[in-house]
Amino acid sequence: MPTKTTTTRVRTNYWSMKKMASRGAFLVAMASSSSSAYSGARVSGRSALSLATASYCPTTSSIRSSSSSSVSAVFRGRSSSISMAFANIHNGRSMLASSSGSVSVGSFTTSTSMDRSSVSSSSSSTRMQTALLSSTSSSTEETTSSSSSTTTTTSSTPSPRRVKTASAQASDELVSIKGWVRTVRRQKTVAFVEVNDGSSLEIQCVLPLEGVDDATMEEINELTTGCSVHAIGKIIESQGGKQSVELSATSLRIIGSCPGETYPLAKKRHSLEYLRTIAHLRPRTNTISAVARVRSTLAGSIHAFFQKEGFNYVQTPLITASDCEGAGEMFRVTTLEIDDVEKLPRAKDEEGNMQAGVDYGSDFFGKAAFLTVSGQLGGETHACALGDVYTFGPTFRAENSQTARHLAEFWMVEPEMAFADLTSAMDNAESMLKFVVSTALEKCDEDLTFFGNFFDKGLKDRLHKLVNVPFVRLPYRDAIKYLQEEIAKDPSKWQFPEVEFGTDLATEHERWLAETKFESAVFVYNYPKKIKAFYMRDNDDDGGETVNAMDLLVPGVGELVGGSQREERLDVLVEKMKELDLNIDDYWWYLDLRRFGSVPHAGYGLGFERLVTYVCGIENIRDAIAFPRYPGNAEF
Ligand code: 4AD
Repeated sequence: MPTKTTTTRVRTNYWSMKKMASRGAFLVAMASSSSSAYSGARVSGRSALSLATASYCPTTSSIRSSSSSSVSAVFRGRSSSISMAFANIHNGRSMLASSSGSVSVGSFTTSTSMDRSSVSSSSSSTRMQTALLSSTSSSTEETTSSSSSTTTTTSSTPSPRRVKTASAQASDELVSIKGWVRTVRRQKTVAFVEVNDGSSLEIQCVLPLEGVDDATMEEINELTTGCSVHAIGKIIESQGGKQSVELSATSLRIIGSCPGETYPLAKKRHSLEYLRTIAHLRPRTNTISAVARVRSTLAGSIHAFFQKEGFNYVQTPLITASDCEGAGEMFRVTTLEIDDVEKLPRAKDEEGNMQAGVDYGSDFFGKAAFLTVSGQLGGETHACALGDVYTFGPTFRAENSQTARHLAEFWMVEPEMAFADLTSAMDNAESMLKFVVSTALEKCDEDLTFFGNFFDKGLKDRLHKLVNVPFVRLPYRDAIKYLQEEIAKDPSKWQFPEVEFGTDLATEHERWLAETKFESAVFVYNYPKKIKAFYMRDNDDDGGETVNAMDLLVPGVGELVGGSQREERLDVLVEKMKELDLNIDDYWWYLDLRRFGSVPHAGYGLGFERLVTYVCGIENIRDAIAFPRYPGNAEF
């Protein structure tokens, strides 16, 4: 395809200026992601940079060229004819160089509407390497200058493709690795640099000191833990290290330096408690990056499961006026001036007399509003129209729990199925879990092996068992009987030894059932009505004492899933809501589902962070989410 060129808007940075000043070879630039302002610089009084407009659009991950069909950034070396440029297309997933202070060098020419992949891996990344490899070599260029821009077509030597360490395979091809330095060991003839690029645990870069250029030697001497780097070399079978492959590197550049004295991540292993205090940096550790990868795989496989089963993904609101679980554990959403209590609008009775409390009629939504505790009620509206649906989104609970299983903000997966009963919900939950766990076993082997080595020796066996062994299904009454028998043997071993019909099972009870009694995932079903939510269907054949509800208990975690068949009979539901003192008017739309073509339907909620905790074999749910929210903590 013919390449018509224009120049991209770029920004120089400190590193580029420093390097250029010292080597006089080139100028480095970075495509700006938001501003449209022109920027440029002259370096060493001689190197020229001319720029036009091309902007990176973070939402579409594309570069928009102002007018012509391609973009390129251009530099002219002081003493050679090298022409190099660098675009930093910075986004969460791919980067050509890291954030401020970062740099890479090279040139790119690309067609209009470059998408992320074309930018990140092919053109720029590839050509960028030219500079690293051949700072003295020349390339051909044609330059047309005008007062505000320079248009150049650069033909540069092909240079190494960037590979992710997770997929790196031994070959004769010269490749680029980009990431952050974990450790550096310099010996007389060789330097070993452990680099982590986030796609796998890490890769060892081996730099034979005789074979590297002067600039690389300089960089090796400046390397510290935490630096971001760009290394070039060949992937070879590992010469005896922990990994199967390593990079036999011939060139290395520091992209962003890292002052060792203030960097909070040392080479040693840190406790997970400490890492929580630096949640912005902890994804750079093996443990937290492995959690993040497993979490991502699980999220993808949850969608894959429901999509393959023909469920529609619906997004229910985060701001709601109804308390799904009726437990009153909701965060309020308001725009009222709560800092000035005197000015809060006061509730009044019909005669206009002041009442206790605030008049939420004058609040933003004209009524009291909260963050949702569950997407279920909204999910039911769509199940009763689309058949099978699921939601997967954040939920919020203002429960004052400082436990290893509770968060104030957590993600929940909530399928809802029309023309379905409790057995259908249990069947679906079992199939879904087997599917997502087997996907994790298949795709996250390195990370799960790591968790098996450092956190939970029996992890993989347990996960394989979950996939291969049918889940136990146990009526609540039987669960109580088993617990009573066990507790009677030595009540002092139990924190909550009082267990009877009506007891809301504590984690120790749930874990004993799953870990000791059955050594398996266990559905406990038919719970007492009085400890469960209003929307659960009454069991007609049980003296009105129980509801069609289930909890799935798994070893190591306890309750992972909670679900039920929903009460689809209008009169029964209204009666229950009155008994629980719920305001029927708030739920008019929910009751309409029972007025107009009501159907038996069922669903459940899976606590996503509990699943991540379970699959990774880690103990604390606060390590299963990037930025945990719990009482007393909303840092980051
Ligand atoms: O059992 P729960 O409260 O069920 C519901 O919210 C239903 N409306 C779901 C439905 O039927 N659509 O919560 C479901 C799951 C629990 O089994 C647990 O895994 C998780 O959500 N969960 C929490 N996870 C982390 N922190 C908390 N505070 C949690 N509360 C519940």
